[in-house]
Amino acid sequence: MLPVQHHYPLYELNTFGMKVYAAHFSTFTDAAALTDIDTQPEFSKGFKVLGGGSNMLFTGNPGQWILHNRIKGIRLLQEDAQQVWLEVGAGELWHEFVLYCIHHHYAGVENLSLIPGTVGAAPIQNIGAYGVEVREVIDTVHCWHPQERRSVSFSNADCHFGYRDSIFKHDWKDQLIITHVVFRLSKTPDFRISYGQIGRELELMGVKELSLEKVSEAVIRIRKSKLPDPAEIGNAGSFFKNPEVTEERYRQLQQQFPGLPGFTLPGGRVKLPAAWLIEQCGWKGYRQDDYGVHQHQALVLVNYGQARGQDIALLSSKILTSVAQKFDISLEREVQIC
Ligand code: EPU
Repeated sequence: MLPVQHHYPLYELNTFGMKVYAAHFSTFTDAAALTDIDTQPEFSKGFKVLGGGSNMLFTGNPGQWILHNRIKGIRLLQEDAQQVWLEVGAGELWHEFVLYCIHHHYAGVENLSLIPGTVGAAPIQNIGAYGVEVREVIDTVHCWHPQERRSVSFSNADCHFGYRDSIFKHDWKDQLIITHVVFRLSKTPDFRISYGQIGRELELMGVKELSLEKVSEAVIRIRKSKLPDPAEIGNAGSFFKNPEVTEERYRQLQQQFPGLPGFTLPGGRVKLPAAWLIEQCGWKGYRQDDYGVHQHQALVLVNYGQARGQDIALLSSKILTSVAQKFDISLEREVQIC
């Protein structure tokens, strides 16, 4: 039996800093602890797994059983001359895992430095930054299926990864508990520094010879300059996804809105920066009481202290409406509203 706490404060467990309480709350540190959770009375309420709470907006006290994943450990499963396979506990902090890889000269996650959250959350939304997505280094995702009392493993292809998307957000939403993720990392770096600012930042840093540490440091410097630190200002990173349009639609939009940036994707579609669209609607730096839109990054909604989840959810709806009215584009939320 997993010990359960009732009316448990989640303040410290969600990066928006929402002052909500879980009706039922448990922590687990290994997969064995999950074996018979389906027999506990709280299970009938449904469950939600919480890692770092860095992609969630609570709009009230969650009634489901909140399961806080704290499975730790990094284990070398296999290696050859070029690569290593590491099995990592889903409760490990993502950035600590990145630092571990850099320290051991394992390449592949350095561009994903300083992303808040846990290893177990990484495959769910296929975290990405500065030209790299975690799908590129995920080999297998191991889960526990409590309803069926069995382990289920997903190969990379089984995960159906997409831009900030995977099968865990859809077919398997709130049914599985990710216990471990196996990563395949390279012993020889393939530096990706073509994305926007990285090259510029490395130059500013005076870097002559690339290394995993230097790329990571450049990413950290860029993130710190743009994105608010959740320890200081509550937020969950990008609140919306960047929308995609056809090339034809992009050309039409550009005529109407000269200066609209666009990044052509491999199949010819064009990704538009949602931050630009939001900024053009006048929302950047908006503040009402304790909630608003970050002043340096229009994609990030923030809690300055006492904001309520409903206020931020409502603000996100207003932003969706204004972007739809001005550009006829429907933005999608990236953050899960619970
Ligand atoms: N821009 C604006 N106004 C702003 C900010 C940005 O117009 O306030 C425009 C600029 O044209 C800029 C472009 O947006 O060139 C792109 O900005 P940035 O490089 O900061 O990236 P983003 O599209 O805003 C995405 C990810 C971030 C990730 C960065 C870097 C999404 C939803 N967001 O943001 O991911 O760190 O690229 O790769 O794809 C997250 O998912 O939580 C997240 C922070």
